[in-house]
Amino acid sequence: MTTPATESHLRRLPKVELHCHVEGAARATTILELAARHGVSLPSVDPDELFAFTDLNQFLSIYDVICASLRTADDFHRIAYEACEDGVAAGVRYREMFFSPGFVIRLGVPVQTVWEGVSAGVRDANHDLDIECRLILDFDKPTGPAHALEMVDVAARLDRDLLLGIGADSVERGIDHRAFAAAFAAAAHEGLHRTIHAGEDGPADNIAAAVHELGCERVDHGFRLLDDPELTAEIVDRRIPLTVCPTSNVVIANVVPDVASHPLAEQRRRGVLATVNSDDPGMMRADLADEYVAVAAAYGYPLEEMEQISLDGIEASWLPDDGKAALRSRFVAEFAALRAEHGLPARR
Ligand code: ADE
Ligand code: ZN
Repeated sequence: MTTPATESHLRRLPKVELHCHVEGAARATTILELAARHGVSLPSVDPDELFAFTDLNQFLSIYDVICASLRTADDFHRIAYEACEDGVAAGVRYREMFFSPGFVIRLGVPVQTVWEGVSAGVRDANHDLDIECRLILDFDKPTGPAHALEMVDVAARLDRDLLLGIGADSVERGIDHRAFAAAFAAAAHEGLHRTIHAGEDGPADNIAAAVHELGCERVDHGFRLLDDPELTAEIVDRRIPLTVCPTSNVVIANVVPDVASHPLAEQRRRGVLATVNSDDPGMMRADLADEYVAVAAAYGYPLEEMEQISLDGIEASWLPDDGKAALRSRFVAEFAALRAEHGLPARR
């Protein structure tokens, strides 16, 4: 027997988030305040209109404007801390969060300033709030392989208690993903975890490059994976996780008209370790709880499947094995308490 998943229950379900950008998690009201402070002009001063986009390129040009409003370590501290506060409100207990210095270092903000602020914001949030957040440094793919190597060099010297690994984001079309092989090899040599945005609005071949030539341990998005059945079988066999962001693929990449048409359900049916994530919750005005509600509604998933999605996030994380086991025990206990509170039978 299965149990229907109600919205209020899903909102409180404990969750893991592995694909969330700190800049894209910024609140519109915060960006408006920081832009005013630094004299940066924005396309709109109405918080409801600031984040308007219809495709990835337009989204990334607004991302650029947001980043232009971030100048000091305090600014980065604030958006990192607020991103964690908003994550807690969505039930996120553990998050591996991207930050993308490429967008601001080209404006003259030192990468050390970015790290100082983001790391202090996350450290404070971990102390004050019911969340454990870690960081992933994303390099900017269009800036090229030399920037990628430079970012790996920076990452290798950061505090590994907070910084887990390296990733790559921004546009995908027209980018030769194999050109980043040296950067990812250097990251592996430094003991950094590795992931990359691939197959978001680009082909499954970019996912193949990620796992075969870049040595990535996870793939961010992977929307186009099922186009390649052989690669799908390999990803299933090797349990390489996808960090899927269904609503983002509807409203940012615009590669599917609605969540119901998204391949997530088919990926999971075929055994892919496909996790659920928000991507840019501030800019999309949809957090991870909204994402869980949308996924349950789109595929008719019962509570049991939503609990499994939450547990799959733990498996897909870069926590050490004992950390995964501890988080799993905590989640299972929280699932039971939530069920009891809702008068539902225990999970089997
Ligand atoms: N940076 C933030 N969100 C992104 C996305 N959806 N795709 C590529 N780069 C991003
Ligand atoms: Zn992303």
